[in-house]
Amino acid sequence: MQKDQIRQGRLADERSPEVIRFLSSMEADHWIAGADILVDMAHLLMLYRQRIIEDGAARALMAVLLDLHEHGLPECAYDNRFEDVHAGKEAYLIDRVGEEIGGRLHIGRSRNDEVATCIRIRLRDELLGRMRALLSIRKALLDTAAWHTDTVMPGFTHLQHAQPTTLAHHLLAYEQAFSRDADRLRDAFARVDRCPLGSAAFASTGFPIDREDTATLLGFSGVLANTMDAVAARDFALEAIATAAVCMTTASRLCEDLIIWSTTFAGFVHLDDAYCSSSSIMPQKKNPDTAEIMRAKAGTVAGNLTASLMIAKGLPMSYNRDLQELTPHLWQSEEATRQSLELLAGMVGSAAFDSQRMQTEAGRGFSTATDLADVLVREYGLAFRTAHRIVGRAVRSGSLDLQTLDAAARDMAGLSLAERGLTERRIREVMDVRHSVSVRNAPGGPAPEAARALLSEREGALADDAAWADAKAAALAAAKAHLIYEARRLVQ
Ligand code: ARG
Repeated sequence: MQKDQIRQGRLADERSPEVIRFLSSMEADHWIAGADILVDMAHLLMLYRQRIIEDGAARALMAVLLDLHEHGLPECAYDNRFEDVHAGKEAYLIDRVGEEIGGRLHIGRSRNDEVATCIRIRLRDELLGRMRALLSIRKALLDTAAWHTDTVMPGFTHLQHAQPTTLAHHLLAYEQAFSRDADRLRDAFARVDRCPLGSAAFASTGFPIDREDTATLLGFSGVLANTMDAVAARDFALEAIATAAVCMTTASRLCEDLIIWSTTFAGFVHLDDAYCSSSSIMPQKKNPDTAEIMRAKAGTVAGNLTASLMIAKGLPMSYNRDLQELTPHLWQSEEATRQSLELLAGMVGSAAFDSQRMQTEAGRGFSTATDLADVLVREYGLAFRTAHRIVGRAVRSGSLDLQTLDAAARDMAGLSLAERGLTERRIREVMDVRHSVSVRNAPGGPAPEAARALLSEREGALADDAAWADAKAAALAAAKAHLIYEARRLVQ
């Protein structure tokens, strides 16, 4: 097969294997090879419709493109001696149909608008895949929460027992965060879904092209207006990586909770063996490796974001080859995020929670002390700060029984709680963890009725995001089917 077409005119082709390997984006280009064929088809159809390329050449080229679409690019097009898949594919086309025909496909186009279009096409699919993974972890969280609206557990601040809550409340907190990741993803998708094609190197072209036509054929919601911006911009990619990094930060926190909960100290959860590993020396070990790797992947994705920002920040207008180095960070981020969310859904869905252990821990560490202070305010007329100080002093003395509380009240505020009618029985009632949870029934609170109300609202939000993803996927599939249909019609 041919040498790299693009180097044959201007350059003497004397590159060392090191330089060749250093410059080639071939490895990462596997991600966009499929999209590149579609871009070729749309571009060719447009050239044909605009009478820029004549009938016979258009048919011959389209026949090869349809073949490539069905069977994939042959290995030889991925050879490292080509700078990228665009060059490899062009060499292959010319090999098949000759330069007189094959050499016409690149009319009015540059690899700069070509690659930007390919990245956006693949990224749309990746984002929809990430959305599906987000839907599955959110569903796993909601389904598990629905079983556990009455499962009391300790809530923590500073990783110290703070106040009782429920497992449902805790899981719903994560679902809420992941649902914002879905919002961010939908937002990012809208900016990805714009077509750079027709920008050529950056200054568009003197051929009478139709940018709207190629954008529609490729299922884009519109064209990128400024052709210089269209080839130079990677903020759409930065935004996608940023949304992945934020999402992975939440995933990592959930992993961290699961890791802590699965320790012998906590004993709140038994992760399914399928997500754990053992030790090569300690036969008793069961380690939460999936959660640990996921926690690390969050670091990798954050690193990808930093690397990408650094690559993009110093580039003058318009296209610079540095941009090639950014793209693999995008794919790595999407892959790590989607895989993580899918696995996390399985890990949460298969986890066995120990409600008894959670309940036992829920009341430890004077976790209902706030309830007691609140009752001193509501029923015994104290200012909250006074009540806070009295209860705090009693905790310091080591007990919240009537005698200790009363002594603290005399000491701190010069009053007697016993004289005001506080009884041992009332203290016990107030400090019961179930009582504590049940009175916290403000919207979004841990009380079972509040959690059930939130659950049904969250299920609605989930259904809305699922409908969005279905509609987008259907629109992209329809556009692709139409493109292939038009391509076949041209050949017949
Ligand atoms: N492989 C290149 C990239 O990923 C494609 C564009 C090459 N353009 C160029 N002027 N060398 O960015």
